[in-house]
Formats: sequence, C-alpha cells, structure tokens
Amino acid sequence: MSPQNLLEPKKIENTSLGYRIFCYDSLPSTNDWAKRVAQRSKEERIVILAETQTSGKGRLKRYWVSPKGGVWLSIILRPKMPPQGVLKLTFIASLAVANTINEMFHLKTEVKWPNDVLVNGKKVCGILTEANIRKNAVEFVVLGVGINANIKLESFPCDLQNTATSLKHELCNTIDLRPFIKKFLRYFDRYYKRLQQGLWRMLLQEWKCLASFLGKQVEINIDSAILVGKAWDITEDCALILRLDDGILKKILTGDVKLCVRKS
Ligand code: BTN
Repeated sequence: MSPQNLLEPKKIENTSLGYRIFCYDSLPSTNDWAKRVAQRSKEERIVILAETQTSGKGRLKRYWVSPKGGVWLSIILRPKMPPQGVLKLTFIASLAVANTINEMFHLKTEVKWPNDVLVNGKKVCGILTEANIRKNAVEFVVLGVGINANIKLESFPCDLQNTATSLKHELCNTIDLRPFIKKFLRYFDRYYKRLQQGLWRMLLQEWKCLASFLGKQVEINIDSAILVGKAWDITEDCALILRLDDGILKKILTGDVKLCVRKS
C-alpha cells in the first residue's frame, strides 16, 4: 500500500506477523488517520502509530490526552463479522494489553467494561473501536489503543490524576516501547485468530477472569442519569447486566462503570 496524498510516515516497520507499522511523529488522531488510509487501500493489519496526538479521541466524544511517551496506535482490520460483533474486538484488544503488561512487568492488571485496562485499580489504557459499515456489513474497523506508558502523572489534567495512571508511574521506571508494542501485537494477533475461529465464548471467559468489577456494586453513567446496582454479568454480545437494588436485571449497552466505594 502506498497511502498516496497522505503525509509520509517517518518510518515503516514490518513485523513477522505481517503487520506494517506506519510511524509518525505527530498526528491529530491515529484513528482518524487510519480511517483515511483504510478508505484508500484494501489492506488490513496496517498499524498507524504516532508519538503524540494533537486531537486524540476518547469514547463518547471525549478528548484523549496524548503527550509524548505514550503508545497511541490504531490497527486497520477487515474482520468477517456482523456489525454487532465489533465490540468483541475491543474486548480482545483489552485482553492483549492486560496480558502484555502482566507478562512484561508483573503488574496487577484488570479489565473494566467496556474498554478500559487498569493497573492497580487505575486506568492505564483506553480503546476506541470505530467501524465503517456498508450495506449492513463491516467494511473495515479501526481499533484505536491508547496506553499511558512513559508518562508523568503531572501531564494528566487534574480531574484524571486520581483515576488514571501510567506504566512509568507504577514501575518508577521508563519502559522500552518497541518490544512492548511488538508483544502487544503478538497477543492481539493470537486473540484475533481465535475470534475468527469461532472461539468467542472462551475469549469472553478469559476477559471475565480479569474483570474484577463483576459482582461489585457500581454506578453507571448513561447520558445524564446514574444507575446503581451490582455488575452482574457480561452477555455474549458484550452488554453489561446490572442487577438493580430491587432485583431487576437491566441490560446496558453503553456507559461508564464506576465502582461504589461504600456498598459491596
Ligand atoms: C477511551 O477510553 O475513551 C478510549 C481512548 C482511546 C484513545 C486512543 S489513542 C490512539 C487512538 N487514536 C485516537 O484518537 N484515540 C485512540
């Protein structure tokens, strides 16, 4: 692929698994860039990686702070799955991030519905999956992964300093990003293959083993309302089942989960 008319990357790296990593110094958003690349070529396994993002995007139209030192990347995929299955990619990407961090640094990692990876209870990674759907079929998916790697906590806005962390902060050391990204891609590739082989139930089970919020009392922010209940289960279509205090089970498709500190 030659991403004609697109800014030339600083470097292109080919990995043994067939991923091509396009490395940039700075981009507005790797997800937006990846979408432009995906519209110009039919390839997949293209990774857009930037050292900084000037307009990094989070879920629910939030801004994603992306200073130098983080891992800001987007993977272009062309999965054979119905549009409703796309959230499964977010789940396997969070599994890949959690396992990479755990294996390389022996830190306590967890996943939190729907798209977070936590280290020692604080958010270290967020995932933003965006799909291009045509005639009710997935044309391509851009899987955006943001990992706070070598970032000082002071770089986060004040409101995030209690809820977010970085690998540098948890390890009191900087990490080598290259082997970290390679290992993440290796894990991701393994999970992606399993997903395509129809092993979703097994993957979801593995995800749930890392989901320590399950069974706990949580608050869910949906639009401007707050629902409180016990995080009961995750369905096969990636929805959260919340057990309200009156015993009613409610299926939640989108929102943010926050652990309640008092009740358990
Ligand atoms: C979230 O938790 O809200 C999701 C954050 C996703 C951030 C990543 S960084 C790489 C990619 N490019 C973006 O603009 N966003 C995603």
